[in-house]
Amino acid sequence: MTCILGINAYHGDSSACLVVDGKLIAAAEEERFRRIKHWAGLPTEAIRYCLREAAIGLHEIDDIAVNRNPGANFAHKLLSALQGRLSFHLVRDRLGNRSKVRGIKTELDHEFKMSTGRNGAKVHHVEHHVAHLTSAFLVSPFEKAAVVSVDGLGDFVGAMWGVGEGNKLKIGSKIFFPHSLGLFYLAMTQYLGFPNYGDEYKVMGLAAFGEPSFMSEMHRLVALNSDGAFRLDLSYFTHHSKGVTMTWNGGEPKTGSLYSKNLEDLLGPFRNPEDPVGKRHEDIASSVQAMYEECFFHLLNHVYEKTKLPHLCLAGGCALNSVANGKIFDRTPFRKVYIQAAAGDAGGALGAAYYVWNHLLDKPRAFVMENAYWGPEFSEAEIAGEIRAKRNELDQARCASEKIDDENERCRKTAVEIANGKVVGWFQGRMEWGPRALGNRSIVVDPRREEMKAVLNARIKRREAFRPFAPSILLEKVGEYFEKDYPDPFMIKVYPVKAPKRSLIPAVTHVDGTGRLQTVSKEDNPLYWGLIKEFEKLTGLPLILNTSFNENEPIVCKPREAIDCFLRTKMDVLVLGNYMIRR
Ligand SMILES: [Fe+2]
Repeated sequence: MTCILGINAYHGDSSACLVVDGKLIAAAEEERFRRIKHWAGLPTEAIRYCLREAAIGLHEIDDIAVNRNPGANFAHKLLSALQGRLSFHLVRDRLGNRSKVRGIKTELDHEFKMSTGRNGAKVHHVEHHVAHLTSAFLVSPFEKAAVVSVDGLGDFVGAMWGVGEGNKLKIGSKIFFPHSLGLFYLAMTQYLGFPNYGDEYKVMGLAAFGEPSFMSEMHRLVALNSDGAFRLDLSYFTHHSKGVTMTWNGGEPKTGSLYSKNLEDLLGPFRNPEDPVGKRHEDIASSVQAMYEECFFHLLNHVYEKTKLPHLCLAGGCALNSVANGKIFDRTPFRKVYIQAAAGDAGGALGAAYYVWNHLLDKPRAFVMENAYWGPEFSEAEIAGEIRAKRNELDQARCASEKIDDENERCRKTAVEIANGKVVGWFQGRMEWGPRALGNRSIVVDPRREEMKAVLNARIKRREAFRPFAPSILLEKVGEYFEKDYPDPFMIKVYPVKAPKRSLIPAVTHVDGTGRLQTVSKEDNPLYWGLIKEFEKLTGLPLILNTSFNENEPIVCKPREAIDCFLRTKMDVLVLGNYMIRR
């Protein structure tokens, strides 16, 4: 038996996964256990969970795979500094970071009070973008595919592409720091007044409200190269001189400001986070998204020309840009696309582990990630115990609970509550891997009721009104409601809703007529499929609104967190395993 522990550590969305003889056993982000969004240190709790799931100790791990190799591309770093394209202190900082990543084995030994080296566990440092590429290709259903990774920065690279075939990956080309599409989008996100780690999706949501009327300015910021790459006009940015500083200090990671005064001279004053969002901000957001798409499709079309392969795998933080992902079939010749659930940095743990199993150990591929349910689950007895422990608070909130063992009955009764306009917390089975709630840690409501967006925002989510809510739809009905009939179990592509259907489902149709759908198949999640099927029987609609089960916190992991969130937010109904709790 070969046990490989994959880790994304000392980086946003730190995470761990466990691969045993080529099969994924468990995968989770550290933030879910620490209860701090995007937590960025050593993922000790996620590692503990993975070991628990497989009932093994750390001393039984054969290989530890880390998605960082601070020594990678060092010659390029040094050359950039010598040529004056990069400050020397940035190179020095990166070397400091190198020792931290290099020390992971010692840290693990210290944390788990046992030597990972006793049985000769080897630590493998896999270059950041190589781990992104393998996180997509090696768990994809494709025997051969073009593979592309785009993000902010990892091991001095902002994008990489290659060809995956069988159990091997061959690198085609890299786009080196400081030219990075992810850092362009991040700098513009900061400029638009969204300073938190991972706020880029807010700009993506806001973009739908504006017009791309700032494209001439955008073309001054970013230019396309003939080789599929892109380059930034660095006079508008600071990351090449100040570095990309990320601090977390045990809390949420924070990234330092990345744009220069020149950007304000070009686009006008930046927006303070507390200022209202105006037309200019909407138009800049729209232009940023359009510029991103121009570069992204320029790169993808170049990769297609080089490979002529019809299948594409995509990873890296930018692969979470679901609006651009939804246009791949229209703007490139690629005919099939695979993007796994944790396409961002958390997924690097998975990519590093499979790089070791397939590429280094030369084992054949025997695993396809078809669903995202790789996190913890809780037994009926554990859930009953948590409800008992919270009995007094539930009684004070006048909640009645009912045990419903029959799954069909549970789905039917829950569907009735949804159709009656109730806000329902749906907590079932194993927690999702990746940033999306996909029907196991979800809040679900009626998509026919436009007012549900305001209800969710007022009572639970407390987020910006411009951000859309997304639908979960029965896989077999996608083509009836969306312009594209292509599965997406990971809610990572946005498609236009068919025009005649838009007025039927206003709560999940964005202002531009699109929806970031999750397709639900009976095979991948029979219980969630059953819930939507029951909703269809009641209403004629094969979809429900699905938003993550949380309130300005990481998605709930444990039953107790679900009960606390239910009580705090005045949700109407909580379906916690076999128990239905009504307020
Ligand atoms: Fe990355």
